Amino acid sequence: MRISPRLVAALALVAVQLASQLVAAPAALAVVGGSVAGRAPWVAALLDARGSQFCGGALIAPDRVVTAAHCTQERGLLGPRDRAPRQLTVVLDRHDLRTRSGVRVGVSGIWRHPAFTDVGRGDDLAVLQLDGPVAFEPVRVGDAVAGRTATAYGWGRTAESGPVSSLLRQVDVPIRADHDCAAALAGYRADAMLCAGFPDGGRDACTGDSGGPLVSDGLLVGVVSYGRGCARAGQPGAYTRLAHYRDRL
Ligand code: ARG
Repeated sequence: MRISPRLVAALALVAVQLASQLVAAPAALAVVGGSVAGRAPWVAALLDARGSQFCGGALIAPDRVVTAAHCTQERGLLGPRDRAPRQLTVVLDRHDLRTRSGVRVGVSGIWRHPAFTDVGRGDDLAVLQLDGPVAFEPVRVGDAVAGRTATAYGWGRTAESGPVSSLLRQVDVPIRADHDCAAALAGYRADAMLCAGFPDGGRDACTGDSGGPLVSDGLLVGVVSYGRGCARAGQPGAYTRLAHYRDRL
């Protein structure tokens, strides 16, 4: 069979267009600097009483979701105020927050790490007990290995002062060595925290991604905790190191 040069040219054009989209997408979008995620039913959106997403989470057992301690509090007039379990709804398998897809499940109890005071001091960890089990496969917990790539997921801001995303996004960032983290983050605790990001920034979790998962080599290694701004050079994102809390998960 003969292949016409025109067909070859047309295919080449399509290929170039596809490739340029692939290259262009990460620059503009995110989490910060990421892309629209694939299906990830174990990624939880936490909704407040009004139905607005305010944090993320990850399904670690059929009836338990891990999130950040600071996600179980809201700003009150006199400081942080506990969110009541009944004010929270967990949504799983809802890629697009504008839809009603996936499943909603109520929260019957909140365990927050008893030592948690503020994100900079760590122990930014909470477990939500769901009203009942869901049918999705939970993600297994493992430890973070410096130098490996990890993927953060969320519906948070796509730039430090940018809008949030209605579509779940993901971004790949390298897990940094503890001495880099300690140099960038005051109060860094190597046993109980990890940090991830490129030296030049550009890719990161951001506001609204808190509580959401950081996954490396197929294992849940971190929970989005805090950062100075988002995706800034020299400012890796800080995550709760889940391996440290294994006996509580
Ligand atoms: N604390 C933020 C939140 O409430 C998440 C911060 C993550 N920031 C970062 N640069 N990695 O959503």
